[in-house]
Amino acid sequence: MMNSVMQHIRKLWPQKRWKKILLITLLVLTIVAASLLVYASVGMNADVITELVVKNPQGTKAALILYHPGVSSFSHDVAYAFADGLTSSGWRVEIATPSIGAPTDLSKYSLLVVSSNTYGFNPDKPTIRHLERIGNLNEIQTVLMTLGAGSAQESKQSLENTIQASDGIIVKSLLLYSMAPNEEGKSAIEIATQEAQQIT
Ligand SMILES: Cc1cc2nc3c(=O)[nH]c(=O)nc-3n(C[C@H](O)[C@H](O)[C@H](O)COP(=O)(O)O)c2cc1C
Repeated sequence: MMNSVMQHIRKLWPQKRWKKILLITLLVLTIVAASLLVYASVGMNADVITELVVKNPQGTKAALILYHPGVSSFSHDVAYAFADGLTSSGWRVEIATPSIGAPTDLSKYSLLVVSSNTYGFNPDKPTIRHLERIGNLNEIQTVLMTLGAGSAQESKQSLENTIQASDGIIVKSLLLYSMAPNEEGKSAIEIATQEAQQIT
């Protein structure tokens, strides 16, 4: 009797263990998927308020760079690479993240740099919201940087349309990828720095 019970338990044990592992795995996957969904629908479209960063305060002309910090450091790194390029050619650069904390009066700037992430083939929402807060761009010289993993052509076009509709003058519109190759095999950071150095 005892023996047959033990055999029964031995037969059941691996089955039960695998069921438990399967259940835990499913639970973990559900939590991860739910968190990603929540982030994809809310988090990445939420404004991020940061302190205004000023680089090269003695610079002769002033530029404002707007970038929305994404999940990765990509947008931050590209924005700061562009800032480095500008400061190396004498610009004063202010860097802000599109939010209620960012400047909306552009009258003191000679250049506006808008760097937008691409989410679902569109520019990120905080950037678009901030452009709406600014309103008319009064023909300010504008550099656009559309960032993406590898498929952001539509997002670039959409950002260009938004700027043109608000009377901004687009002087450069760059498409910079984090995963797909960029022009001439250069990294997005290299391109951002070099393109900024050319702006006088
Ligand atoms: C939810 C989501 C959607 C995305 N959609 C696109 C897309 O349509 N095209 C593209 O090239 N990159 C896409 N990306 C990649 C980001 O645009 C790219 O990584 C970005 O410039 C940096 O943002 P991140 O730091 O939030 O990833 C997407 C990223 C996420 C998280």
